[in-house]
Amino acid sequence: MGIIFSGIQPSGSLTIGNFVGALRRFPELQNENKCYFCIVDEHAITVTQDRLKLRDNIRSLAALYLAAGIDPEKSTLFIQSEVSAHTQMAWILQCNSYIGELERMTQFKDKSEGKEGVSAGLLTYPPLMASDILLYNTTLVPVGDDQKQHIELTRNIAERFNRKYNDIFTLPEPHIPEHGARIMSLQDPTRKMSKSDENLKATIFLLDEPKQIEKKIKSAVTDSEGIIEYDKENKPGISNLLTIYSSFSNSSINQIVEEYQGKNYGTFKQDLADVVVNSLTPLQERYQKMYQSEELDDILDRGAEEASQVANKMLKKAKKAMGLGRVHLKR
Ligand code: TYM
Repeated sequence: MGIIFSGIQPSGSLTIGNFVGALRRFPELQNENKCYFCIVDEHAITVTQDRLKLRDNIRSLAALYLAAGIDPEKSTLFIQSEVSAHTQMAWILQCNSYIGELERMTQFKDKSEGKEGVSAGLLTYPPLMASDILLYNTTLVPVGDDQKQHIELTRNIAERFNRKYNDIFTLPEPHIPEHGARIMSLQDPTRKMSKSDENLKATIFLLDEPKQIEKKIKSAVTDSEGIIEYDKENKPGISNLLTIYSSFSNSSINQIVEEYQGKNYGTFKQDLADVVVNSLTPLQERYQKMYQSEELDDILDRGAEEASQVANKMLKKAKKAMGLGRVHLKR
């Protein structure tokens, strides 16, 4: 049995990138492993958030986890800020991280470049993520391709700590899907599809209405060749749409290319829209029920309690290893 940890930021509505790269892979891991799934709201505040929107996004993300098939009887689902060990461990790990290695993180560079008033939290985001992972003795972290670098850093920080103080941390491995690890923007297929893209046409959100999905797919950037084939370098737009098609159907990219030989982009895009809408509709229905239910609160309360118990034990070990606290004379 492995131990799985993964987190998603409630920093906006979830995209089909989050779904294909991460969320929809979680349920299948529940039977064979102990799984922890987290709503990482403390990561979300590394950039300014609207207070009311953030609260809504947190509940919405919890409902989506359940709608996607997370079973609270099998997995622990919780909100990061409700388990205080995360930020406490993050401080310990920050003290074992170097500014240079944090500045080299691609996500930090992307989010800070050319911006004024970059928060210190944006720089120390990876030690908080390392804390999420290391608190639970995690062996496997299912994520999209963009998080690989953060998991490598987590391993480096853990190794450094184990060597310097005491061998307490398990080194985690990333678990990245073979296909769909990086769904690209519909408007600029050389960039990752992102929750926070200002161009709303670039992103399909999991909770988009069928009409919106159809419209966005129809206006997706392609090329003028009119030939449906997979060529990431020269035809990034159509290649991305093929990846999405394959991710939402049971067909491989090769099978889809074969099926659409001689057909035009219009037909392909209409069929793709149908495939995406048909898979998202049942998810959206389950989501609506979960979002409204009080059961969701019970699940999150239980999750925070379960997670705290495990996390506090590891936090205690880390504090002891570093010599924090006092010598007890009283037995
Ligand atoms: P976040 O919230 O940006 O994304 C959540 C998950 O979705 C994946 N993802 C994608 N996959 C494919 N194509 C895309 N276009 C795409 N966009 C996002 C991400 O790789 C991620 O798996 N730092 C993390 C959150 C986090 C975390 C953790 C993850 C905090 N602590 C501990 C794992 C373990 C993040 O920003 O995810």
